[in-house]
Amino acid sequence: MAKKIINEPSRTLMEYRLLPGLSTMQTAPENISLRTPLVYSAKQEKKYYLNIPLVSAAMQSVSGAKMGIELAKLGGAAFIYSSQTIESQADMIRKIKNHKAGFVKPKAVKLNMTIAEMYRIRKETGHSTFPVVNDENIFLGLISKWDYDISLHGKFKVKDRMISKENIEVGVNISDLKEANNILLESHKSVLPILDETGKLLYLVFRKDINDHLNNPLEVHDEKKRLLAVASINTHDYQERVHELIKAEVDVIAIDSSDGFTVYQKETIEWIKDNFPEIPIIAGNIITQEGFRYLVEAGAAAVKVGMGGGSICITQEQKGTGRGLATTIFDIVKSRDEYFKETGKYIPVAADGGVTSTKDITIALALGADYVMMGRYFARMEESPTEKIVVNNRVMKPYWGEGSNRAREWINKRYNQSKFVEGVEGLVEYAGHIRDNLDETLAKIKSSMSTCGASNLEEFHKTAELELVSALSIREGKAHDIYLSAESNEAGEDVKIEN
Ligand code: IMP
Repeated sequence: MAKKIINEPSRTLMEYRLLPGLSTMQTAPENISLRTPLVYSAKQEKKYYLNIPLVSAAMQSVSGAKMGIELAKLGGAAFIYSSQTIESQADMIRKIKNHKAGFVKPKAVKLNMTIAEMYRIRKETGHSTFPVVNDENIFLGLISKWDYDISLHGKFKVKDRMISKENIEVGVNISDLKEANNILLESHKSVLPILDETGKLLYLVFRKDINDHLNNPLEVHDEKKRLLAVASINTHDYQERVHELIKAEVDVIAIDSSDGFTVYQKETIEWIKDNFPEIPIIAGNIITQEGFRYLVEAGAAAVKVGMGGGSICITQEQKGTGRGLATTIFDIVKSRDEYFKETGKYIPVAADGGVTSTKDITIALALGADYVMMGRYFARMEESPTEKIVVNNRVMKPYWGEGSNRAREWINKRYNQSKFVEGVEGLVEYAGHIRDNLDETLAKIKSSMSTCGASNLEEFHKTAELELVSALSIREGKAHDIYLSAESNEAGEDVKIEN
């Protein structure tokens, strides 16, 4: 006899609808905040919050450096995938951390370094402008990619090609970006070295970073104003991988597994906590309250929940394991709230897999999720790592599961013991830039919260009222009994909707 048989079916997000609450001035969409904690942090550090409750999945076809940079600029985070070599993943993290809004501390070079040596650092770090300093870190000049041609000047010294400090406008002890921006404007330059009163180099400020920053008020930063970077890991090569990711200055580590309720995750969490106690760990995926307790007691600072719902996922079919995401969230959120009452530790919950529309995101948040992880949604964007292709006159991007044959070459770790696939490979329709898509997605989330009378996610969790709807009612909620004009119909033809 099985230990437990639940005879209530588990529910998916699409089966729920929200009931309205009292809308007020405070809950007008323009007054709604979508700020949410990424991980539990004893110090409530600013850097561990997202400004929008959306993260992109740790998948080869979704989350590379470009996604990491753009999503952090827009208030969310990309979980950089681990199904690649340690070096290339660390490189992606470095790219995100080096893409800085505001004050940058780039690697400095010395007068007698050859241009060829400096060029190697340029390739490693992605920086194209270097400050030149002496052994005491006194600022001597700048050298940028415009000052040399590697084929002509490889053997030259930095001092032969740099612009020396006499010809450079500098700022002294400036910590305000606006002030730095004013000096840059007046000097017609694109980079401003900031020195202390003794002439030692503190930072560089780039004009393009300032502009970028002013355009992105929701940007997520670390305390040095660099973009926040999250990397996923597996439970196999984690010791070596985490070392390298920390060297690349990753902020948060997430363990990526379809089933997180394992002793391997516990060991991984414990090892990281012993070796790098400062680094928060997101664990998962789990779908039961037991799984939640197990990972949180091991030291997880947030959990990802969901199994079997992903758009490319065939785990339920292949293994018979999984659970509807609405029931999963509901169950785990109950445990999270109990755990908070017991310990005062609030462990954020990420809803992951199978979120197909904005209303699903909103329902997940209403049920108590702190943020939502999506693969398909972000795979369609310009910033995902895949190339666009044209199929039947439609622009598409490839999208494949981490458990598909295509990814398994790399995944060796995640699914290699199994003799079957858990994911498929397909195409998704290209959707343009994240920025443009998010505008509409966030507007819809805010509009629903406004209707429900919640001005932030904490209030939404406490006050949302949801109702399970019948299949007929879901049908009624769509356009029906009219001829849809070509404009409203995705296929571009007039179509009669049957009732
Ligand atoms: P989507 O947003 O519905 O496309 O789901 C993305 C999520 O599916 C990821 O965040 C993973 O949790 C999960 N996932 C990724 N690859 C696979 C796979 O190959 N099999 C099963 N689940 C997967």
